[in-house]
Amino acid sequence: MSFTINGKTQAITPGERLIDAINRSCVEIPQVCYHPQLGPIQTCDTCMVEVDGKLVRACGTVAVDGMNVVTESARADAAQRAAFDRILGNHLLYCTVCDNNNGNCTVHNTTKLLAVEHQEIPYKAKPYEVDMSNPFYRYDPDQCILCGRCVEACQNLQVNETLSIRWEDPHPRVLWDGGAPIGESSCVSCGHCVTVCPCNALMEKSMLGEAGYFTALSKPALNGMIDVVKGIEPELGYGAILQLSEVEATMRESHTKKTKTVCTYCGVGCSFDIWTKGRHILKVEPTHGAANGVSTCIKGKFGWDYVNSADRLTKPLIREGEGFREASWDEALGLVVRRFAEIKAANGPDALAFISSSKCTNEESYLMQKLARAVIGTNNMDNCSRYCQAPATTGLFRTVGYGGDSGSISDIEQAGLVVIIGSNTAESHPVLATRVKRSHKLHGQKLIVSDLRENEMARRADVFLHPRPGTDLIWLSAVTRYILENGLAKQEFIDKWVNGAAEYIKSLEPFTMEMASERCGLPIETLTKVAHMIAAADGVCVLWAMGVTQHIMGSDTSTAISNLLLATGNYMRPGTGAYPLRGHNNVQGASDHGAMPNFFPGYQKVDDPAIRAKFEKAWNVTLPPKPGLDNHLMIDAIQDGRLKSMYVFGEEMSMVDSNANYVGDALSKLDFFVVQEIFFTETCRFADVILPGAPSLEKEGTFTSTERRIQRLYRAMEPLGESRPDWEIIQDIANRLGAGWKYEHPSQIYEEIAPLTPLMAGVTYERLEGYKTLQWPVAEDGSDQPLLYTKQFKFPDGKANFFPLTWYEPSNQQDAEYDLHLNNGRLLEHFHEGNMTYRTEGIREKTPCTFIEVSPELAIERGIKTGSWVQLTSRYGKVRAQAVITTRVTGKELYMPMNSVDEPVNRLTSSYTDKATHTPAYKETSVQLKVLGEVGENPLPRTNSRFGHPTPQKGVEVERKWKRGDYSQPGNGLVQIKTQ
Ligand code: SF4
Ligand code: SF4
Ligand code: SF4
Ligand code: FES
Repeated sequence: MSFTINGKTQAITPGERLIDAINRSCVEIPQVCYHPQLGPIQTCDTCMVEVDGKLVRACGTVAVDGMNVVTESARADAAQRAAFDRILGNHLLYCTVCDNNNGNCTVHNTTKLLAVEHQEIPYKAKPYEVDMSNPFYRYDPDQCILCGRCVEACQNLQVNETLSIRWEDPHPRVLWDGGAPIGESSCVSCGHCVTVCPCNALMEKSMLGEAGYFTALSKPALNGMIDVVKGIEPELGYGAILQLSEVEATMRESHTKKTKTVCTYCGVGCSFDIWTKGRHILKVEPTHGAANGVSTCIKGKFGWDYVNSADRLTKPLIREGEGFREASWDEALGLVVRRFAEIKAANGPDALAFISSSKCTNEESYLMQKLARAVIGTNNMDNCSRYCQAPATTGLFRTVGYGGDSGSISDIEQAGLVVIIGSNTAESHPVLATRVKRSHKLHGQKLIVSDLRENEMARRADVFLHPRPGTDLIWLSAVTRYILENGLAKQEFIDKWVNGAAEYIKSLEPFTMEMASERCGLPIETLTKVAHMIAAADGVCVLWAMGVTQHIMGSDTSTAISNLLLATGNYMRPGTGAYPLRGHNNVQGASDHGAMPNFFPGYQKVDDPAIRAKFEKAWNVTLPPKPGLDNHLMIDAIQDGRLKSMYVFGEEMSMVDSNANYVGDALSKLDFFVVQEIFFTETCRFADVILPGAPSLEKEGTFTSTERRIQRLYRAMEPLGESRPDWEIIQDIANRLGAGWKYEHPSQIYEEIAPLTPLMAGVTYERLEGYKTLQWPVAEDGSDQPLLYTKQFKFPDGKANFFPLTWYEPSNQQDAEYDLHLNNGRLLEHFHEGNMTYRTEGIREKTPCTFIEVSPELAIERGIKTGSWVQLTSRYGKVRAQAVITTRVTGKELYMPMNSVDEPVNRLTSSYTDKATHTPAYKETSVQLKVLGEVGENPLPRTNSRFGHPTPQKGVEVERKWKRGDYSQPGNGLVQIKTQ
């Protein structure tokens, strides 16, 4: 297929937007409202071209074979200019003193492209004030060109549905919740709107007065400058004014650094440029990250203040009595290696243990496990995947072979049905959730959610299941049995690709619909509907997280999910598969790179002699042959005196491990405890030596996201004070113990990892340069696998396995004394305990503390009000917090977010674990509730997005603009050919 553009022939692809085809041809046309990731919204009319003699909007037209397109005709040119002139009527061109004058302003660049010298329609201010009420960004209606990009992004990409433009208003503007102050609306501060705004109407507050050379001027001085510009425009024209501003924009390049990085919060793996001026973070600019495009959530877009926090650790600290004193690196490292050596000499290498960080890089996890194994001689090595994702990995190892998501986020997007189990996806993996929300809203995707709480995804779901806690395995197995029994399974797929069907089907005998209905508390009709939806869907993706894994049946329930997917043939093709959503930014990578007690990098077994021989040869050492202690067993080993010393980096172990009182007690018994951190965390209180590490912005390396996607991060600024990149610290310790490592850059560490690790054989820093990514397994030639199992499953015979299961009662159940069930998890604004997010003032403002969600029924029964102080007591500890009455929870089920170091929910959780992996059963907690009498303010301020009232609509709804009495199509005879 081809078309002609200004007389030249060019190939087109079926269904391609005309504007994309024109852009590929390198012919420049204006296109103010068009953003490829948003699609055509057709509000600006600047992209007018002639097609076969008719005037059309290029963005709203589909290119078809044989089309004759003219972009340069007088008619098209006049229409483009007329449309842009209207835009300038809404926007003052004061570029030289504008913080958005960075070379990428669409309004500036279009003025230049069209060589506009004077405008016909004079600029007219709108009768509204600038809105500064959001802590992170501001809206200036006077600069708003009403392109609607922000509305489209909020309605149909982020799908928070906060923004709209009431086109019927005399002076339309962008509205939050139909007209609320931004700070009191349902806006979740994801920043999509700010990112896609083509001018300075929506801007990050961190840019204001900071980005330009003349933009820090006082308001009167700034207004004076703007008046000067307005004054000279009639005489000089915009050409000269733009030239001046372009000189200023070029000058900015000397103080603005743009560094590509990867988000350091959740496992979605958003990547973006971070703009810095010295240590000041100007803004986060997502553009074309493989996982996120222009998307971010509040944490990735605005949650970076912790990097410059005044309480960063900048010098090593050594315990002195009850306190700590500053020390030189030499003294601190000298003490660390002396004590490690003494403890090893006196008690053997297994008296030491190592915990790597899921926040830090792959290279750092690799070095940490190499230090433990090759230098100390122990496999006592773990990372926090033990706390969340190990059961999911086990479920996948049992059934399909690889311990990672079976496809990519794009597969989730194109699935016919998404099933979310035990995951508050919209808050815990916000950008990934936007893809589901978008497909559900716009493309007919179906959504089933199983959760204890009616979270956002549950509210949006076609079917919301609220099973009794700890019973997901039952309904999953019953639905699978029903599908198999009623001829709804994909028998051909099972026959060809799955082993063990007979034994598995037998194991399903107890799981009738009746049994499931009774045990789970779900109607049989609902379960039957779920079975039929799954069987009928064109591609099913199941997403799950800690609501599944943090149970004593975590591995088995994960396995049940995979069994269901196998029975319905939902592997091996796009839009299908199993997606355990990884929590931390690099929890996948920490395990992939050997920070586990039983695996070398790439899940190669430490007790396999051939594998061990390979690593012994490469590292020139003798390695311990037996798997070591995982982090759960480490705590027990400290308590019974076998484990004497630990080295933990980037892990708030004393807060995030279950049964925190027991863990804290253990840590206090260590003979020698080293903590490497960026802040003085709660875990640091137990330390003997604290080493100041560096956050992601201050170092290089790679992270691996939930999609198995490996991405590079670059150094945006130097480490603060005397803090150092963690890999350098680990290397120093190893070398002081005689290791002789010589890594000068993390790339050299990867050069060692790749040949030793078949899973990563072809990973190189060159192949990951800039925004390039690889999704493991990566073959030596660099080819990767965005979708797993396209040819076979990861077992010797290429087939998957059904895995028979039995259900057991959850641990730590309610009784007369502990009569309430306590669930826990994350909040959108905070990450885990909040060590990083609390250090962003705007986040603290929106969500200042933790709280306890109480159902309206229970509130009436116990006389609890929102703001009441309550005490929860479990069999393991106590916490106090204020109540929030909400229908998100029901009956005797409570929910407590984990964002607190003062009253951490893990004081209440137990030491019961998943049998296969020792992942704590955090979600099996029983408590009693005592009302303390005092009633305070709502712990969630009015500015929290929960209190907003979204205004869902189809998008920008430009047709309403076209109906305005004062709207006329620019140019003569506009024709709408075909829109997409
Ligand atoms: S939720 Fe808020 S920040 Fe996000 S796109 Fe909507 S208005 Fe903008
Ligand atoms: S605020 Fe929204 S409508 Fe206004 S210019 Fe920016 S993106 Fe366009
Ligand atoms: S926290 Fe997760 S969803 Fe949010 S920007 Fe970071 S990686 Fe993306
Ligand atoms: S780019 Fe705005 S109408 Fe086409």
